[in-house]
Amino acid sequence: MERMRTHIGIVGAGPSGLLLSHLLHLQGIESIVIENRSREYCENRIRAGVLEHGTAELLVECGVGERMKREGLVHEGIYLRYRRQDHHIHFPELTGGKSIMVYSQHELVRDLIAARLRDGGQIVFDVDAVALHGLESNSPRISFQKDGKPFEIACDFIAGCDGFHGISRPSIPAGVLRTYEESYPFGWLGILAQVAPSSTELVYSNHDRGFALLSMRSPEVSRLYLQCDPEEDLNEWPDDRIWSELRQRLSTEGGWKLKEGPITQKGVTGMRSFLVDPMQFGRLYLLGDAAHIVPPTGAKGLNLAVADVRVFSAALDAFYKKGSRDLLARYSKICLQRVWKVQRFSWWMTSMLHKSNQGEFFEQIHLAELDYVTSSRAAATALAENYVGLPFEPL
Ligand code: FAD
Ligand code: DHB
Repeated sequence: MERMRTHIGIVGAGPSGLLLSHLLHLQGIESIVIENRSREYCENRIRAGVLEHGTAELLVECGVGERMKREGLVHEGIYLRYRRQDHHIHFPELTGGKSIMVYSQHELVRDLIAARLRDGGQIVFDVDAVALHGLESNSPRISFQKDGKPFEIACDFIAGCDGFHGISRPSIPAGVLRTYEESYPFGWLGILAQVAPSSTELVYSNHDRGFALLSMRSPEVSRLYLQCDPEEDLNEWPDDRIWSELRQRLSTEGGWKLKEGPITQKGVTGMRSFLVDPMQFGRLYLLGDAAHIVPPTGAKGLNLAVADVRVFSAALDAFYKKGSRDLLARYSKICLQRVWKVQRFSWWMTSMLHKSNQGEFFEQIHLAELDYVTSSRAAATALAENYVGLPFEPL
């Protein structure tokens, strides 16, 4: 058994684990990241694309925003499309100048991995048999195997950044965490297509046939989603059927045209709202998707992960620099206040925009909600301030 020692053992090299490791490095705190997939897999996993105003600012401030500033697309609003008409929500006007940044999660992951390796950081990819030990002691440990050899990392704290299906959350004894969970009777079929986006900004479309979303990754690459069954069989969705469905759900009275091109990636994702309270046990702290999942309609998952990292890295800074445990003790409470607000917003956007199986009454309610949001400045402001990201909590 090879033994290692560090301040913070981080499980998972997704956005939360990598950003945490980077921020800790800037604070002079050591960490080791272990990841059960390959570097190549992590750098090519297609996921989120929308960064809140504060997320983008934080990335710039901590020195990993250079490429994002160059290649990311700043968007000043979104379109809500319903009854085959467009309604624009202009963020800067409603939020005192804020906007969002469209930049792929996997590009951010690449930037973070590059920054860690450049600064001499340790990321161990392709590990297996990861297990956590001594969570209630002052020196918790992470055991794992790499190339068939056993390793153990002793640390002061463990950061569980291993996503919804990771091992961190299930390592907490039964009965400690309270779980809140809600599932939805639909999922999203998502595609990447090699074609210029058909709109300058994202289009969220409420349609009788179901929700559709037009997003993008670059001036040459479109990202589109269709509401589908959570168990939808991709084999039943040849490219022609996908484009035909998108054309119908995104059509407008004004004869708007959808640009079509080769589909380079397809996938189906289920939808859930999930969180645990507290987000911590002993010296194990949960961050990002390991602690909470939101339905994707508000584009919030990655941004919530970044918000957790901001709080946890500040709490560790106070612990190592001043010996203060105050922020560590309040970690869960501070994060969960934001998580619940984001859960509310994501649930609200999801309900308003999707076709549910609740019947005609609710379809009319959702249209009324859309009419309200697009006609009342107060309601539009409520959407805009959540979409660009609620202000970070003072620490
Ligand atoms: P993850 O990205 O899941 O990273 C966890 C890491 O831990 C992974 O690398 C995993 O391989 C690793 N791991 C797992 N188990 C172990 C183990 N046992 N040992 C070691 N490592 C392990 N969010 C937004 O903000 N905006 C969007 O527009 C958006 N769109 C999305 C679209 C889709 C289709 C999907 C699926 C998600 C979307 N999200 C979006 C959500 C966002 O992608 C996640 O919230 C984000 O990835 C969370 O980051 P994380 O680091 O906490 O978890
Ligand atoms: C994207 C994903 C979302 O969940 C969303 O609300 C907006 C955009 C995207 O992948 O581009």
